[in-house]
Amino acid sequence: MSPPLSPSPSHSERFARLTELLAEWQHLWRPLPFQHWASPWGEAYSALEGALLALSDDEAARLQDAPFTASPLAEWLPVAELSDQVDLPELPGDARELPAAWAAHVGGRKWSQIEAFLPRVAASPGERLVEWCAGKGHLARALSRRDATEVTALEWQAALCRDGQRLADRQGAAVRMAEQDVLAPEAGRWLSPETHVAALHACGDLHGRLIELAAARGSALTLAPCCYQRTAAADYRPLSQQGQERAAALGLSLSREELAMAVQETVTAPRHVRVRREQAGAWRLGFDLLQREVRGVDAYLPVPSLAYGRLPVSFEAFCRWAAEQKGLDLPAVGIDWAAFEAAGARRRAAVTRRELVRHLFRRPLEVWLVLDRALRLEEAGFDVELGTFCARELTPRNLLLRASRR
Ligand SMILES: C[S@@+](CC[C@H](N)C(=O)[O-])C[C@H]1O[C@@H](n2cnc3c(N)ncnc32)[C@H](O)[C@@H]1O
Repeated sequence: MSPPLSPSPSHSERFARLTELLAEWQHLWRPLPFQHWASPWGEAYSALEGALLALSDDEAARLQDAPFTASPLAEWLPVAELSDQVDLPELPGDARELPAAWAAHVGGRKWSQIEAFLPRVAASPGERLVEWCAGKGHLARALSRRDATEVTALEWQAALCRDGQRLADRQGAAVRMAEQDVLAPEAGRWLSPETHVAALHACGDLHGRLIELAAARGSALTLAPCCYQRTAAADYRPLSQQGQERAAALGLSLSREELAMAVQETVTAPRHVRVRREQAGAWRLGFDLLQREVRGVDAYLPVPSLAYGRLPVSFEAFCRWAAEQKGLDLPAVGIDWAAFEAAGARRRAAVTRRELVRHLFRRPLEVWLVLDRALRLEEAGFDVELGTFCARELTPRNLLLRASRR
């Protein structure tokens, strides 16, 4: 006889445990390895540091991609439990395929995301559909065609509304693009107990506002949140009562910058982009060593980021550019550029390995943030489902909340 299956934890239980794990291990996942020239965790973790630095390039790359699989860090960190806590079900949906012609004028990856998201939007009969922060209303058009119903798509950029309306009219989709700043006081007028709001990849405050309005007005929603760090507030204030209480009790506070960790997992970039990124990372760390010596101050100096394709042609040119940004005078002669460049590359290899510790806590932080949203809605009297809507290769922001008033 097989043992009875243990029931999956409630959102509240999972949230409580993740709060404990994030709080307990914050001294390990908070420090940013690139800001430190040695181990950011001190002597207490010298064995962990040793194991990380001994990883081959291939093994480090594998763990970057799959931090919970066969991880040698399990000797020091709660890898198995973190993995269990972020293991969420794929939410079921309507299996009908969408006609390929509906993909016209939508980018390939975005269309695949819509194909995965849309089957999970299950409006009840009589509910009016609204798309939140709709861009050109690609999702709204597909929804409207699938359900043969009118969809209102809210977007604040007039040009996107115009383009979106043109596309909808041309395809005969019953979409009404409405120019609306969803943060404006009157935005709530679009929501009522008879509306179902769909939001694909709505950023921080934009989906926070949707949740508050839906809670107040009783609207159902299907939401894939994104970019938790895009907020007016510099410090995170949990949305749910339980979140506020548990985070305060365990001393788990998060700055806007720390929220960004939740979305740092990206779809693997093409090889030439990765090579360029590695180069830029190594040069930054080489410059960091140089600036510490030139200034005589052993402290990290943040340098602005560079748009893709703007990286100077050589390490020296990069350092001169970075020094200018920081108002730092570099000597015209006498710098051993090759030595600093090589030291930067070695440091980059070490930083990449130390960052594997943060990678372990990235998805747990993201799931914690989404659970906080789920609990906010449960506390407002909603039934809430939380799961994934697509494979992470399609988008790592693949978590979905479905909620409707009980
Ligand atoms: C990340 S995009 C998501 C677009 C679309 N849902 C998608 O998945 O492609 C965010 C959209 O929100 C819009 N937006 C940003 N701030 C807004 C606001 N305050 N009110 C309404 N729309 C806003 C942007 O113009 C953009 O079209």
